[in-house]
Amino acid sequence: MVDLSVKIGSLRLKNPVLTASGTFGYGRDYDEYLDIAQLGGIVTKTITLNPREGNPMPRIAETPAGMLNSIGLSNVGADRYLSDKLPALKNVDTVVIANVAGDTIEEYGEIVSRIQDQSRIDGIEINVSCPNVKQGGLAFGTNPDITAEVVRISRLETEKPLIVKLTPNVTDITEIALAAQESGADAVSCMNTLVGMGIDISTRKPLLHHILGGLSGPSIKPVALAKAYQIVQVLDIPVIGIGGIMTWEDAVEFLLAGVTAVQVGTLSFVDPYGSIAIIEGLRLYCQKNGISKVENLIGGMIQS
Ligand code: FUM
Repeated sequence: MVDLSVKIGSLRLKNPVLTASGTFGYGRDYDEYLDIAQLGGIVTKTITLNPREGNPMPRIAETPAGMLNSIGLSNVGADRYLSDKLPALKNVDTVVIANVAGDTIEEYGEIVSRIQDQSRIDGIEINVSCPNVKQGGLAFGTNPDITAEVVRISRLETEKPLIVKLTPNVTDITEIALAAQESGADAVSCMNTLVGMGIDISTRKPLLHHILGGLSGPSIKPVALAKAYQIVQVLDIPVIGIGGIMTWEDAVEFLLAGVTAVQVGTLSFVDPYGSIAIIEGLRLYCQKNGISKVENLIGGMIQS
């Protein structure tokens, strides 16, 4: 038997595979494809204090090795999240992490305060990295002082594990990661999407209404792996790897680079069962290589 469990701060996950925010709805959208209780955890779609329509269409486009999105944090808002979405996860035996965002620093504190007493929420992921909104999002996550302030104000509102989702669209991601750690984060998620765009040469129109969007999928995996590795070198808190993880081999790479868990995003759109296949692949890899605990893989890269 292989022990696949890992710890993120005070959270014990049954395995290191979570589904990423914005790619798995509010947690029950993929019920016909998989048993979500098999996952290490679910990160629900970003919620904001008030409902948001999101950006005009088109807001998704395929690229040769991934996808561009410019959803604009479309969501039902905190009230409906608490009344309709969260109760649907009540008896599910897996970790639930609520991803939140705000237009202002204060709004991050307000949304955290609004949801933090819910026993079904095991942790809170702070989204300071969405590239598709005018306020908050990436504009906050590219500035270490603002990131620190968002974390500090959120920390005042909750004792639940706080995870900060970082943007790769910066010169030095370690600076932002350190700011998050120093102001009270329990973990960081690395990384959100890379800013990208595409143009349809027959219409000469941009693929996305908003022109710029966030690139995800296998094309960004080497970048995500490098960013995660760089952050692991400087932080004392756990790092969750995200970015183009499509196979169990990808997940093993991230663990060897030092992350404690991974989030699977774009893969769920291609193969809704993919996250479970990654868990099974990890288990078999450990079995075949005589690894009794997946935790023993973390940071196990051997430098040549
Ligand atoms: O546009 C979006 O809703 C994307 C969100 C994100 O990347 O965090």
